[in-house]
Order: sequence, then structure tokens, then C-alpha cells
Amino acid sequence: MRTATDLDRGEREFSMRDADFRIIAQAIYDHAGIVIGDHKRELVYSRLARRLRELGLPDFKAYLDRLEGAFGDAERNHLINALTTNHTNFFRESHHFDYVRSHLVPHWKRRAQSDGNRKLRIWSAGCSTGEEPYTLAMTMAEAMDGLGGWDWKILATDIDTNVLNHCREGRYEREAVKAIPAQYRTKFFRSSSRDDGHMSVSASLKSHLVFNRLNLHAAWPMKVKFDAIFCRNVTIYFDAESKRTLIQRFRGMMKEDACLFLGHSESLLGDSGHLKSVGRTIYAREGGVHDGA
Ligand SMILES: C[S@@+](CC[C@H](N)C(=O)[O-])C[C@H]1O[C@@H](n2cnc3c(N)ncnc32)[C@H](O)[C@@H]1O
Repeated sequence: MRTATDLDRGEREFSMRDADFRIIAQAIYDHAGIVIGDHKRELVYSRLARRLRELGLPDFKAYLDRLEGAFGDAERNHLINALTTNHTNFFRESHHFDYVRSHLVPHWKRRAQSDGNRKLRIWSAGCSTGEEPYTLAMTMAEAMDGLGGWDWKILATDIDTNVLNHCREGRYEREAVKAIPAQYRTKFFRSSSRDDGHMSVSASLKSHLVFNRLNLHAAWPMKVKFDAIFCRNVTIYFDAESKRTLIQRFRGMMKEDACLFLGHSESLLGDSGHLKSVGRTIYAREGGVHDGA
């Protein structure tokens, strides 16, 4: 019986030996914490075959040589960009934005009345192509409307430089923008002058975003603590230990009254990291001001 490896040798454009696959899976785990199981072999092959073609390489062995060679660091970025999963959309898991509007914004207004602090910092960690941080920005802009004197910013970070560039550009297919409720769409999106089926985020909304490449598994340069952290549908690709460490690090970056938002399948369950649930996949510090769910 022929093995997958034999098939690679006989019928595929590029040969990818089991050992090549394992080295690639280990490299992405070591650098980005992303776990790639055996069942992702086909996906790894198809995503990287494009890169091998671009580089004119004969097989995966030659690609691994490149990863080890003088262009290794730059190639590692290509590898990470090729193997991340970036699915996202506007108003995804919309109950999180409802919570920002109905709980957090009123809380921040009350807080400002007592301590005069009108500065808000929110982090979208693993922002992909930007639908999440721009949804947050639209929610904030509407909820803060008419309240002058506030300085609010959203830090949008991702390890993947391709999606981060898309996020920075803020330009989306008209079909994707159609899913945004009309009251936001008309206010915060402009048709492209080229009439090419795309719409762009308004400059005023974009002015609330700051973009940076950041690997959640490396050092974080930020000095400030955050009022809210969104890290949704990112930790599903990590193992339990990395996820635990990450939640502890997020906790260290949260102000006393901050909230952490995770994706729908990422609840903390027993692994609370001294955070309590205050809503569906929404967490706050134990003993903090937000009520438990
Ligand atoms: C499925 S998308 C989620 C996008 C958005 N948060 C949402 O829920 O719609 C996951 C994102 O996490 C990013 N990511 C994966 N590993 C990462 C890491 N180690 N550091 C930073 N970002 C990472 C990926 O590049 C990808 O854009």
C-alpha cells in the first residue's frame, strides 16, 4: 500500500516528507504557539505550495533549507502569514459589542465623574483584517457620541503582517460591509472613488486605531494597562499551557475594572486565572466592580 509520502513523491508538484511536515509544524509552534496537528497536512501543503512556486524551489526540503539559511528570519514571517487562520467578520459575536455599549461605556462615564479620567485604551489582540477593531470603534463612536473631551484608542495587533496591512488600509468588499447595520455603515464607510466594489473606513474612525505587529508569544512592549482586551478566536489554535500563560499575561495588562473578551469556544471554565465570568465569554478581575454572571 502506498503511503501519503509515496503519493507526494509520485503525483504531487512538490514532495513533502513526513519529516518536512513535522519540522514546519514545530517551527510554527515554536514561533507563534500555533498547534498544527497531522490532520492539517493537506492545508500546510496547499498554503506553502504557492510559496515554493513563487521561490522556484523544487521541494519542501529546499524550503526548509531556506528557513535555516540567510533569509530564514524573513522566510519565517512568510511561513507564519501562510499558516495563520484569519477568518473574521463585522459584528461577529455581537453580544460582546452590546456589552461594551450597555455596561462598559456607562461604567466608564460614571468612573470619569468620580476621578476625571477620560482616557480609554482597548486592545484587539489577533485583530486579523480589522473587522473586530473597526466594529469596536463604531460601537465606541456611537456610544460616546456627543461626549467631548474623551481620548479613546484601540490598539489593533496581529502576528500576520498581511492581514495587519489590510486592517491598516481599512478597505472592504461592499458585500462584507452590507452586513453592518445601516446606522453605522452610512456614518463610517465611504464608497471607493474607483467604484471597484469596495468601501473604506472613514478617516475619523480610523484615527482611533493604532496598528502594530505583535506576537502574543513574545515580549509585549506596551507600558499602559487596558480598559478592555478582546482576544477572540485566537487561543483556539494554542495548547492548554500556552493559553493559561496568555490569560495570566492578559490579566496583568488589565486595569482593576477591565474586561477580557474571548471567542465563543474559548471559555475559561476551571482555568479562571483569577478572573470571573461577567457575561457570555466576558471576564473581569475577581473582586472587581463588574457583577458576575
Ligand atoms: C481567526 S482570527 C480571529 C480574528 C478576530 N479576533 C475575530 O474573532 O474575528 C485569529 C487571528 O489570530 C492571529 N494569531 C494567531 N497566532 C497569533 C500569535 N501568536 N500572536 C498574534 N496573533 C496571532 C492570526 O494571525 C489571526 O489573524
